[in-house]
Amino acid sequence: MAGDHGHLRRPRPRRGRLLPRDLGDELSRGRRGGGARPDRLLSTIVPETDVHQVQLSPDGRTFAVQPGETVLGAALRQGVRLNYGCLHGNCSSCKYLLLDGDVDFGIASPYSLPPGEREEGWALLCCATPLCDLEIQSSLVQDPRMLPDLVPEERSSEVAGVEHLGGDLWRLRLELDRPLEFYAGQYVQLGVPGTEDDWRAYSISSPPSRQPVAEFVAKRIEGGRFSGQIDRLEAGTPMRVRGPYGIGYLRAGDDPVLLVAGGSGIAPILSILEHAAESGDRREFRFFFGARIPEEVVLAAEIDAIGRRLPGLEFLPAVEHPGDSGWEGDTGRVTKAIQRHLHDASPYDVYLCGNPPMCDSASLLLEAKGVREGRIFFDRFFAAV
Ligand SMILES: Cc1cc2nc3c(=O)[nH]c(=O)nc-3n(C[C@H](O)[C@H](O)[C@H](O)COP(=O)(O)OP(=O)(O)OC[C@H]3O[C@@H](n4cnc5c(N)ncnc54)[C@H](O)[C@@H]3O)c2cc1C
Ligand code: FES
Repeated sequence: MAGDHGHLRRPRPRRGRLLPRDLGDELSRGRRGGGARPDRLLSTIVPETDVHQVQLSPDGRTFAVQPGETVLGAALRQGVRLNYGCLHGNCSSCKYLLLDGDVDFGIASPYSLPPGEREEGWALLCCATPLCDLEIQSSLVQDPRMLPDLVPEERSSEVAGVEHLGGDLWRLRLELDRPLEFYAGQYVQLGVPGTEDDWRAYSISSPPSRQPVAEFVAKRIEGGRFSGQIDRLEAGTPMRVRGPYGIGYLRAGDDPVLLVAGGSGIAPILSILEHAAESGDRREFRFFFGARIPEEVVLAAEIDAIGRRLPGLEFLPAVEHPGDSGWEGDTGRVTKAIQRHLHDASPYDVYLCGNPPMCDSASLLLEAKGVREGRIFFDRFFAAV
């Protein structure tokens, strides 16, 4: 993943005052499972009333943070490019060094931002709210193939349909009141029906060209506030959509592309493949997909159909629990299939999508197989709570 962090200077003490914070509270929240509170994703937990200015050094970009906004939320709203991933304080993609000023660390997980790093002045900007004006260290060195940032916007939509795909996977189809610009592979946040400010991240599985319809592949979690009701969503149910977010979108280039997804992580990959087919992309696309059970490979027919328009596509599904289904393909985890079929990862641009353990083990394996630095792009599917 493209990262500013690799270019940061050695941390130096901030000029501002370090506010003590109840880290024990953070740690205990972390032990309960990450502590991400969806209602606080882009909002503060401290009742601030002042607008604060943020200056990025050394490039000098500035932006204002309104009361109730996180630093990252304000930057995105004003089109200021910063790195980020999960928006939940869990992935560390938005970790930056405060050169001056103080923040409330918000819901940052103690694993992503340990107490020692807080003392040094590091903060996760997706959950940090300023307590005064800030100076933040940010290098201008970026992945040169990143596309211009799209400023997240909010849309109204209606459920156009839900479809059971197999296993725990469901397709949700929304009709937006007007198109929302996004890049294939990005995600949005969907408002949990029946709530005022509870949001869940979902990758768009349809290509940008299909607007104003946007499709999603959701794993149904029993008791989940959003996904637990997906099978009961009726056509016409209103749903708020805000975004786009994420940097796991398809980069231009000539190098072959390796796609790795598990379960509902297939969603952004479908969007990427469909978009590549529509735009006549001539690259090689090797897609390793891990399913729990054979029924979750149901989208194979759609991928085959895309493959007829995308000649470079090779689909390599693996099923973890084939049972007595007669499944004849690869068995075991997706990493086992990669181990078996991929000998050299060095030529590839890699796109990973799925739960954090899958992303982490696939990254490690691909690094061992020689993938080049900065060539893995992904958005991990963190749980919201
Ligand atoms: C960038 C990003 C993109 C995402 N894209 C998708 C997508 O395209 N499709 C998709 O299905 N999900 C996706 N997710 C994950 C999705 O946002 C979460 O699974 C969401 O928390 C589910 O919300 P819920 O309200 O149904 O469950 P909640 O009410 O939030 O959680 C209920 C319980 O289920 C647990 N839980 C939550 N998620 C999971 C999970 N995935 N597996 C097992 N247990 C879980 C929680 O810890 C909690 O105990 C994405 C997440 C991120 C960060
Ligand atoms: S921790 Fe901030 S974006 Fe993931």
